[in-house]
Amino acid sequence: MGFNPLEEKGIAPEAQIMNWGQMNVEPYDKHSVHPYTRTRVILANGAEYEAVWFGHQFARHAQDIEIKRKLALSRRLEQQQQKLINCLIPGDETVLENTLGYEQVAVDLTAWLARTEPDPVVKAALDFALLEDFDHLYRYSNLLEMMEGKDPADIVGDYTEIFPGRPTSEEHRHPFDGIRKHYDKDTADIITKLHVCTIVAAEQQTMNYYMNSCNRPELMLARGLYQEIGMIEEQHVSHYESLEDPRMTWFERLLVHEYNECHLYWSCMETETDERIRGIWGHLLDCEIGHLHEAAEMMQKYEGRSAESILPNAFLEPTRSQSNKEYVRDVLASQVDLTTDGTDYVDVHELPSDARYFKYQKMVNEDGRVPSVQVIEDHLHEFGQEYRLSTEGEHPVERLREAHAAR
Ligand SMILES: [Fe+2]
Ligand SMILES: [Fe+2]
Ligand SMILES: [Fe+2]
Ligand SMILES: [Fe+2]
Repeated sequence: MGFNPLEEKGIAPEAQIMNWGQMNVEPYDKHSVHPYTRTRVILANGAEYEAVWFGHQFARHAQDIEIKRKLALSRRLEQQQQKLINCLIPGDETVLENTLGYEQVAVDLTAWLARTEPDPVVKAALDFALLEDFDHLYRYSNLLEMMEGKDPADIVGDYTEIFPGRPTSEEHRHPFDGIRKHYDKDTADIITKLHVCTIVAAEQQTMNYYMNSCNRPELMLARGLYQEIGMIEEQHVSHYESLEDPRMTWFERLLVHEYNECHLYWSCMETETDERIRGIWGHLLDCEIGHLHEAAEMMQKYEGRSAESILPNAFLEPTRSQSNKEYVRDVLASQVDLTTDGTDYVDVHELPSDARYFKYQKMVNEDGRVPSVQVIEDHLHEFGQEYRLSTEGEHPVERLREAHAAR
């Protein structure tokens, strides 16, 4: 029998309040941290951020003061968790170094979710955006080498390749083409619900990070690149959140959120290589089990439904941070030319010339100074070549093999 958080005791919410010393833990060492420890920290931070904001939204829609109080307590705890996790990132890791970690999560988390996703519509959504975040990693890597003289390979390790994906400049679409069809809450596998919850949290974290970080560099090009990629992250949040069935009740969504947090920390524990940080994941898992029991009780009390009627009796498999080089190459080779038209994915060459996509492209890319293109041109100019990290052979897409073709 696998791990079932509903059958574990966990820590009661009232016993979870941290003092300042417990919250302000020692950060990792950026020179020796495993790339996937860095990405786990980024992902967990995003999940906590989502937990906090979901709690606020729920409370704003709740009339009963009892419910508001319970949510206030759990939000306070999620805030403490968020702060603990976020401060695992050391002060000497620059915004741009951390940004590479963000895009590495976006690549290897998305690829893992896509590979294990049972619903074909959700899998297609993951594959589609995977190629876009993969391209962001390449653009920011060129910026990092140019601005800070650092080697991106020192951050991503030997796990993730760096070269053009679906070019960022081609990712900008009219918002009407960014909405997908949602899964059905009554027939969807729990794995699908957890995957959507996780990827929304991750993309939303990235969106927020770029919203706040775009004014940190002095270099105009860097500011522009954060703005441009930040707009795509907003597109990704809209894309992924539309997959969730909006007919789920607030209580059901709270339950799924807490269950997902349990699954996340259980996965982190199962896969973490840093002993000290593994201990932190274990403690946070116990805290989440306490939140899950609270959410289950609330659903029982206010809706007369048991958690067991929605959740399975064990976790199947942990979410693994792992290398997905061949998978990314395969998706690139077959889907690089896809764009969207309404809720459908279409080959860009099959769109009529008056499609919304081209009109929007023209509006945003019109003056020729597209930051994601400029960063490669400037790198070429300065270093005589662009930055790429290919370990598995030539680029899978012919038109993206030459530097100047990577528009
Ligand atoms: Fe949490
Ligand atoms: Fe991205
Ligand atoms: Fe993204
Ligand atoms: Fe929680």
